[in-house]
Amino acid sequence: MIKKTTIKTIQRLKENNEKITVLTAYDYSTAKYLDEAGIDIILVGDSLANVALGYHSTHSVSMNEMTIFVGAVSRGVSRALVVGDMPFMSYNVSVEDALNNAGRMIKAGANAIKIEGCNDYLTGVIKRCTQSGIPVLGHLGFTPQSVNILGSHSVQGKNIQSALEILEAAKKLQEAGVFAIVLEMISEESAKYITERLNIPTIGIGAGKYCSGHVMVSDDMLGKFSDYCPKFVRKYADIKSTILNAVKNYCKDVKEGNYPSNEEVFNLSEEENRKLAKEELLC
Ligand code: KIV
Repeated sequence: MIKKTTIKTIQRLKENNEKITVLTAYDYSTAKYLDEAGIDIILVGDSLANVALGYHSTHSVSMNEMTIFVGAVSRGVSRALVVGDMPFMSYNVSVEDALNNAGRMIKAGANAIKIEGCNDYLTGVIKRCTQSGIPVLGHLGFTPQSVNILGSHSVQGKNIQSALEILEAAKKLQEAGVFAIVLEMISEESAKYITERLNIPTIGIGAGKYCSGHVMVSDDMLGKFSDYCPKFVRKYADIKSTILNAVKNYCKDVKEGNYPSNEEVFNLSEEENRKLAKEELLC
């Protein structure tokens, strides 16, 4: 019997000083392999806008598109906690609208949702979600959905003032009920300072080694996505080369008549084959 990871499991990992492993996935078979390999949390990130759908920005992905991918991932997972990333403007219009969209994520198969940022309105959204049985993962530091306000993909928490502001926001999110907080592109020292002052886990991405756990975009760490590669990405595989080599070899085999081989075809019985030959003579 497989034991499902819950937000309580995640809290226990933090309390036992055991690092929490998180990767993104967008499709059924990748999710299945991440789950089989023992990942704690699978995030269906809005990064799928870039890496799976080829949009230039995460702003372009819709709630409808997100739920399709959340459904595919959740059908491949039996153990990991599946978190659905709330896309741009799916939780910003009103608390009612946010709650409705968060519910759609859970109905599609997610076990929790993620939202970016912290202000009084967002802590209200988080409270309503958790009161309705929807666990929420927070996201602070560089928040890609606010890139047009932040100005660029830049490291946050680079001075004491900024680190203290992120800590204050993290404490507000903790109080509102998030079960963990993603810290994206924050200086290692600031992320350590913040992590040590929270009761809930932090999940770092470009935030140094002291976070309670770490997340990477799976297409980055598997070497599949190659349009750009952030400094914090460590490549554990080179899927792009594997695909290029496989496809080149396939094309060569087809062009040279080496595919399919005798072992890769279906044959008529000898008798049916004889009949076919006679038929041919009559035509
Ligand atoms: O969308 C995403 O993949 C994310 C992670 C980078 C944290 O939000």
